[in-house]
Amino acid sequence: MLTGADWWRKAVFYQVYPRSFYDSNGDGIGDLAGIIEKLDYLNDGTPGSLGIDAIWFSPFFKSPEYDFGYDVADYCEIDPRFGTLEDFDRLVAEAHRRGIRVILDLVVNHTSHEHPWFKESRSSRDNPKRDWYIWRDGVGPRRRPPNNWRNNFFGPAWTWDETTEQYYLHSFLPQQPDLNWFNPEVRRAIDQVIRFWLDRGADGFRLDVAHLYCKDEQLRSNPPFFRRDKVEQRMPFTDRTWMMNLFSLFSLPEFQVKKYNQHHPETHRVLKEFRKTLDEYPEKTSVGEILGEDPQVIASYYGSGNDELHMNFYFDLAHCRWKAGAFRRCVERWERLLPAEAWPAYTLSNHDIVRAISRLGGGKHGDERARLLAMLLLTLRGTPFIYYGEEIGMKEARLPRRLLQDPVGKKWYPFHRGRDGCRTPMQWSGGPGAGFTTGEPWLPVGPEVEKRNVAAQEKDPASLLNFYKKMTWLRKELPALLTGSYRSVTHGVPGDCYLFLRQSEEQKLLVALNFSSRRRELALPPQFLPARLLISTDQSRPAKTLHQSPALGPHEGCLLQIAGVEG
Ligand code: NOJ
Ligand code: CA
Repeated sequence: MLTGADWWRKAVFYQVYPRSFYDSNGDGIGDLAGIIEKLDYLNDGTPGSLGIDAIWFSPFFKSPEYDFGYDVADYCEIDPRFGTLEDFDRLVAEAHRRGIRVILDLVVNHTSHEHPWFKESRSSRDNPKRDWYIWRDGVGPRRRPPNNWRNNFFGPAWTWDETTEQYYLHSFLPQQPDLNWFNPEVRRAIDQVIRFWLDRGADGFRLDVAHLYCKDEQLRSNPPFFRRDKVEQRMPFTDRTWMMNLFSLFSLPEFQVKKYNQHHPETHRVLKEFRKTLDEYPEKTSVGEILGEDPQVIASYYGSGNDELHMNFYFDLAHCRWKAGAFRRCVERWERLLPAEAWPAYTLSNHDIVRAISRLGGGKHGDERARLLAMLLLTLRGTPFIYYGEEIGMKEARLPRRLLQDPVGKKWYPFHRGRDGCRTPMQWSGGPGAGFTTGEPWLPVGPEVEKRNVAAQEKDPASLLNFYKKMTWLRKELPALLTGSYRSVTHGVPGDCYLFLRQSEEQKLLVALNFSSRRRELALPPQFLPARLLISTDQSRPAKTLHQSPALGPHEGCLLQIAGVEG
C-alpha cells in the first residue's frame, strides 16, 4: 500500500460505478460483494493485475435512486441493493489487504427528498430543521419563484411545496433538495458523516459539485448569458459564446450566467473545515468535482497554502478536441494557473461524460487513440483517474428510449440521451450479460462486447488492457513520472504531435505522442539523445536505445528515458 501523507500523489485511481461493476447475486445490479470478488483484477500485487492504488466509488448509500445514488436518503447506511455495512467493512479490509485505498462519494450539496432531514424540514414552517434547506415564499400575487435560477438538469431550481406553501431550492431534480450550508447545524451534521466513514476506514472523499454548496444569501437573479464578465482563461469547450449570447438575447431562461448560485466565497470556508477534519486523521485525501468555465476560479479550490482540497478534477482535459495542440494548451494552462503546492488530478471520462473512445473519434482509429490517451493520462504530472471499462476500450452505448434510466435522458430524449450510455455493465467476458450478471442487467451491455471484454483482452498480449497494465506498473518504477516536473517541448515538433518532459532529480523522461494518423519524424534536440525507449503504444516495438530521433507511427506514443538529467 502506498503510505505517507501524500500517497495520493503517487497513486493511480480507478472509478467504480457500483451498479455496473459486478453483480454477485443475479439481480442485474452490481453490488459490494461483487466488487470484492473483482478486487484481484484491480490489484493483486502482481503485474498481471491492473495495478491501481485507490478506488473512488460512486455512491452506494441508501437512496431512492432518482439520480442513481446522487440523492442520498441516509448518509450512514448502505443501500440494500448494494449490501450492508458489514459488506462495506469487508470491502475496506479486502481492499486494504491488496494495497487499494477506498474513496467515497460525498454528495452533500443536496440530499434526497426522502432523507429524514428533508421530511422534517418540509413538515412545517416552524420545524427545527426548516432552515436546514432553502425555503422561500412565492413572489407577487401569482406566487412566482423567488428568482430565475435554473437547475442543472434543465428547468427551474425551485419547486412549490403545497404543505407549507413555500418554494424549496434544488440545483438538480426536485427530488434533490439543496442543503443550507449557512446553517451551522448542517455543517456539524455533515462533519459527523465525514468522521463516521473515516472512522470506518475510508481513505477520503470525492466531493460532488462542491462549487455549489453556498449560494447568494440575497438570492439575486442571475444575469443573461450575454452579460457575462470577461474571463481571461476561458475553457475552450464553452467557447460557443455567439450561440449562447443569441439564445440569451431571446431570453431563453437556461442561458444565464450562474453568477449567484455557485462559487460563493463561503464555500471555501466549508472546504477549509472539511480539510481540518481530514487532517485530524492520518493519510486522508479529497478530490473535488468543481465545474465552471474559469480555470482560475477552479484552481482557487486548492485554497491558500493547500488548506482546501487535496486535488481538484480538471475537466478541461476531458473536453478537448482531438488535436495535439488542444491537449498541450489545456495542460499548460492548468500548470500555469495552479499554485506551486497544488497537485493536479486528471480524468478522461466519468459517469457523466460520453466514453472517451467514442467521444474522440471511436471509428477506425478509436483503439489507437485510446492507447495514446492512456499513455497521456498515466504520464502527466498529477494523479490519473481511470473510469471503469476505459481500460478495455468500452464504447458509449446508444440506447432506445424505452431502456433509458437516467432522468436527464428520459426527460430530454431525443435532444439529450442522458448518461446511461457510459454507465453500462462492466464487460468481464463476451458471454451472456458480459459476465457482469447471471440475470438481466439493469442497463444493456455496450457495443462490441466480443472484443471489448476483460477475458478476451487478458489473452491478447497486444490488447489495450495489457497496455494499461504495463503502464501502471512501469509508472510505479519511474520517479520522474510520480513526482517530477512537467515541461512541454515544442521545438522541432510537428504540430500534430505533443511532447513533454517529466524530470525528477534522478531521472528525465520524454513523452512523445503522435495525434495524427500519419507517420511523423521528430527532430529532437541533440541533448535528448541517446534515449532509451521504455514503452510504445505500438506493443510490437521493442524497448531499446535510440541514437537518432525516432519517427512515430500513426497515433503512436512513446515513453523515452533520456540519458543525462541536466539540460
Ligand atoms: C455530479 C454527479 O457526478 C452527477 O452524476 C450527479 O447527477 C450530480 N452531481 C448531482 O449530484
Ligand atoms: Ca446484485
